[in-house]
Amino acid sequence: MTNTIVNSWNEWDPLRHVIVGRADDCHIPPAEPALDAKVPEDSDMRGQWGKRPQDTIDRANELLDTFARQLEARGIRVDRPTSIDHSKPATTPDFHTDSQFGCMPPRDVLLTVGSEILEATMSYRCRWFEYLNYRPLLQKYWEEDPNFRHEAAPKPRLTDADYHPDYLNEKIGDAQRLKWAEEKHFVTTEEEPLFDAADVLRFGRDLVVQHGFTTNLKGIEWLRRHFPDHRVHTVNFPGDPYPIHIDATFTPLRPGLILNNPQRRLPADQRAMYEKNGWEIVDAAQPAHNAPPPLCYSSTWLSMNVLVLDPKTVCVEASEHYQMEQMDKLGMNVIPVDLRDAYAFGGGLHCCTADVYREGTCEDYFP
Ligand code: NVA
Repeated sequence: MTNTIVNSWNEWDPLRHVIVGRADDCHIPPAEPALDAKVPEDSDMRGQWGKRPQDTIDRANELLDTFARQLEARGIRVDRPTSIDHSKPATTPDFHTDSQFGCMPPRDVLLTVGSEILEATMSYRCRWFEYLNYRPLLQKYWEEDPNFRHEAAPKPRLTDADYHPDYLNEKIGDAQRLKWAEEKHFVTTEEEPLFDAADVLRFGRDLVVQHGFTTNLKGIEWLRRHFPDHRVHTVNFPGDPYPIHIDATFTPLRPGLILNNPQRRLPADQRAMYEKNGWEIVDAAQPAHNAPPPLCYSSTWLSMNVLVLDPKTVCVEASEHYQMEQMDKLGMNVIPVDLRDAYAFGGGLHCCTADVYREGTCEDYFP
């Protein structure tokens, strides 16, 4: 009998084993092209870098530990990564960065598809070595599960040729950013394949991938060739002036139901596959907050960055009362989880986790 450790085909089947990130040693990295394009122009993070304040690291760890215990209390196995030293500069033959990013969030780096966990190329220089935080776990799964496929996408060069220089201007303004998003002109060029794992959503046979700052068209083509048994769909959300990572924009809750950020609606011409198959795309509830917490990269829409435990149960951040109310109306059992003080470390409940095992097999939801 084989010992299956890794198996997860979608975002909603019953979760049995998950990785939860750690805030240890997280840094605000120094300026670099892809990252600067993403930091909001009015953000308190512009111009500063270095290790995050220790009291914020301790608080985020307290919340992540409590979340891990909540999951364990429901019978879910939780693994934690081993933080590398992110204060170390990273140098390759092509670039240098004076510090790295952190051990959060795992969803950006690891893409689980069936019995495979794929390390993404990543698109920020400061995150190039981030996979090392997860290697002890992946090596263990590889030892224990003879069917586990541990894969790594080709490491990118990340030279200046990967980034459009017009995004390196400090004051671009939302109107120009939205125009560029509409034209699909993003900070990353098509120099080489680039993708972050958090731009991918898994729907059984179908993978839905956001084309934006962190994933380019060659990255999506790479995924298409790497997963030949899947259909890979490119999506855009033109209402988003900082399009990175799909999981505060488009959130499947169960077969047939997706939440969509009302400021970043999926364009009509990209809705056909859902409509033809009777899926409902519902506007997400408004966030409870007007602004993100201090030193945070993400928008207030982390409200919809939820972790689905099974098609009837969802973890929602505890202060997001509008989102909790909406989930309840949609027939989900809601588990409130206190995580807002950890948002600054790279995201919400979906971001700070990575699937290892969900029950179920690869199904075709869009025949
Ligand atoms: N683009 C996202 C990142 C979410 C994880 C945002 O709204 O900030």
